[in-house]
Amino acid sequence: VIDIRKLYAETGYFTYDPGYTSTGSCDSAITYIDGDKGELQHRGYSIEDLAGKSDFMEVAYLLLHGELPNKEEKDTFTQTITNHTMLHEQMLFFYRGFRRDAHPMAIMVGVVGALSSFYHDSTDINDPHQRMVASIRMIAKMPTIAAMAYKYSVGQPFVYPRNDLSYAENFLNMTFSVPAEDYKISPAVARAMDRIFILHADHEQNASTSTVRIAGSSGANPFACIAAGISSLWGPAHGGANEAVLTMLEQIGDKKNIPEFIARAKDKNDPFRLMGFGHRVYKNFDPRAGVLKQSCHEVLEELGVQDPLLDLAMELEKIALEDDYFVQRKLFPNVDFYSGIILKAIGFPTSMFTVLFALARTVGWVAQWNEMITDPNQKIGRPRQLFLGHAQREYVELEDR
Ligand code: ACO
Repeated sequence: VIDIRKLYAETGYFTYDPGYTSTGSCDSAITYIDGDKGELQHRGYSIEDLAGKSDFMEVAYLLLHGELPNKEEKDTFTQTITNHTMLHEQMLFFYRGFRRDAHPMAIMVGVVGALSSFYHDSTDINDPHQRMVASIRMIAKMPTIAAMAYKYSVGQPFVYPRNDLSYAENFLNMTFSVPAEDYKISPAVARAMDRIFILHADHEQNASTSTVRIAGSSGANPFACIAAGISSLWGPAHGGANEAVLTMLEQIGDKKNIPEFIARAKDKNDPFRLMGFGHRVYKNFDPRAGVLKQSCHEVLEELGVQDPLLDLAMELEKIALEDDYFVQRKLFPNVDFYSGIILKAIGFPTSMFTVLFALARTVGWVAQWNEMITDPNQKIGRPRQLFLGHAQREYVELEDR
């Protein structure tokens, strides 16, 4: 192993690695990915086991504390989260300030950033108790913030959190209940929602998590760091991909048009890419996509939804996986390929897809942020650059230019 810091100190050389494809920025004990084998583990537990046997509260505890909770620890943790789901009433003024057709992600960025102006008692990053309170607050309040962003965007009154419901049920209720009628929570849909949260909870040093770490490395308060993560997640190459998958499937429209779009994805002069395909780390099937593919069928069956987009998605996957271009580049479906279809079946508009991702990923972000703050090797994130601009030159007075 080359000690890059020593190498730089002695020689002045540094590595040039656009997109950090092979540069480790930190050490971490939270999430392990083997991209070649298509494996994902949190704290040593496989994502298949966690998605199949656990629930989101347990996974949140695991990511934050390093171990699965026992029954008492789980009950206490869940109760603590439940106690923090309410938003300060003054936060409602923030919502009212947004245009009524604002993208819910724009609202999320603003409202989460604004939390730092409300919770001064949990912004001291050197106090472990305050760090934990801030972490709990964000995990607890994110469903409320997300559901309110949705309610605002459709012009319906906000629905307050209910303490008798699970994390996923409460989110569904706040999103879909209307004054005239409470949302009827189907256990299968609540389970699928919970599973989607688990599958998106953490994914080591992706763009948004690295953003949270780099923002936090300067000592910024945790609410500001998570708001930065939400901004980074918004892009179509990251969290915005599931929204883009659905838009793409609608654009393809019919199975007979698939070859035309496959050809476009392969054409280097065409910016079109098959959304939901490819991953920086997975060069094999994304294990999360496998779990979601199965959930997708279950949810559609439970809800009695026959979505031609699912048939289209499966056909697209089949054709792409038989195509040399995708095979050679190891481009497999990623988690976003199926999540959009499930979310659509549950009733979420596409603009909410990335919001749900942000809600779930908040757990990973706060776990990674806490790990970074307590890392004795922690330094401010400060990449170097390869300067390609002008050499020094004489300043020319304005009248002489
Ligand atoms: N469709 C067509 N071609 C693709 C695709 C795609 N979706 N993804 C990669 N390629 C091609 C590239 O053009 C490149 O081809 P070349 O070697 O002939 O130039 C090769 O595969 C390697 O691609 P890179 O862009 O170098 O891969 P990188 O690791 O930088 O990008 C990324 C990964 C951003 C995810 C990319 O695959 C992509 O844009 N996919 C679509 C968007 C998407 O689904 N994002 C979700 C990611 S998962 C997540 O955030 C939860």
